[in-house]
Amino acid sequence: MATQPSSANAKPTVDPATSGLEGIVVARTALSDVNGQLGRLTIRGYDIEELAGRASFEEVAYLLWHGALPREAELWQLQQRLMGYRELPEEARGAIQAAARRMEPMDALRFAVASLTADDPNPADESREANLARAERLLARVPVIVATYHRLRRQQPLVLPRPELGLAANFLYQLSGEEPSPARVKGLNTYLVTVSDHGMNASTFTARVIASTASDMVSAITGAIGALKGPLHGGAPGPALDMIEAIGTPERAEAWMRAELAKGKRLMGFGHRVYKVRDPRAEVLYRAAAALADETGERQALELAHEVERVGVQVLAEAKPGRNLNTNVEFYTALLLRELGLPRDLFSPTFAVGRTAGWTAHVLEQQATGRLIRPQSEYIGPYGLTYVPLEQR
Ligand code: ACO
Repeated sequence: MATQPSSANAKPTVDPATSGLEGIVVARTALSDVNGQLGRLTIRGYDIEELAGRASFEEVAYLLWHGALPREAELWQLQQRLMGYRELPEEARGAIQAAARRMEPMDALRFAVASLTADDPNPADESREANLARAERLLARVPVIVATYHRLRRQQPLVLPRPELGLAANFLYQLSGEEPSPARVKGLNTYLVTVSDHGMNASTFTARVIASTASDMVSAITGAIGALKGPLHGGAPGPALDMIEAIGTPERAEAWMRAELAKGKRLMGFGHRVYKVRDPRAEVLYRAAAALADETGERQALELAHEVERVGVQVLAEAKPGRNLNTNVEFYTALLLRELGLPRDLFSPTFAVGRTAGWTAHVLEQQATGRLIRPQSEYIGPYGLTYVPLEQR
């Protein structure tokens, strides 16, 4: 067997078998920065704590797309356009109807989003204006798809969007049929802003790779949803909540967590590939959950979670010294989304609602500045084999 080295062998910069591209810079971006040592998330120059709880999701989407927060008239115009885009094309309505019968929420979302090219007024138009309109249509429609799917699968009558409601309020309204309280709307805005963008995560990278081939924005977001679905990315927001529920009362926390670690299990909602200190999003989401706790009757659950966090960090520091395992975004996400009345299997689709802002901004950035993303692989198979006809094998 010949042992000719492949071209990719010439300059290996990482061990592809183990690295998962860890630490490799694959794009330049002005959108967001994740500093894992300082526990700092910057969105277009703003610390996440500066935006979350203050800016609406629409404001942050505008910030991501345009590089500056909108003025009042600009925000109003954006909101008018987003309202106009809430009506889904018939292809998407048909896809949701079919999906509601027997598809899981993330599969349903991917299936319906894929059909959103149907009413693109001019698919050949690759101008920034046309792509910005596509970004706006996606941002407006992803929540409508999730809510429509949810109502249909529960065989509940559909709730028409209300033009005077912003994106977060209308999402909650179309899901439940009830107008949400201002506190709940603020809670959801805080969540959506907090997850709107996060550096070169797997789904964002997927979107950029697709955009880099000069494919269309809907394809890029469809692919990103597929990447987000996986439990190593956005597909496991429920397990931290399962753990808190299993612990049940604060005094059980230490023994429960020690027993899990002794069995070789991981504590859910702790640890992060990039953050070596507490994920800044955990604090933001904790505060949002705390602000809602009295209205939603979740004060006790939140106090339990806080105690589980305190004990968990201690127990992990003992069990895994030097690993710097702290709370991640998932820990308080689930509590906050439960407070907002969302069922557990809609946590990941709601993550997609928020991340659509970042994904579409990355596609716009890739279209403006990027080059075809085409890495190489290190071939580890044989060379020069001889074809054996089928009947002789
Ligand atoms: N509980 C117990 N031990 C842990 C945990 C945890 N939550 N997280 C990491 N460790 C330990 C590992 O066992 C390993 O120890 P070892 O070398 O002695 O075997 C060490 O810390 C390093 O772990 P890795 O898996 O190499 O770290 P990685 O950066 O790949 O993992 C991850 C990050 C996947 C988030 C991990 O911390 C984990 O599994 N956490 C629990 C699941 C979770 O909370 N997921 C949501 C993540 S948030 C997000 O991605 C959106």
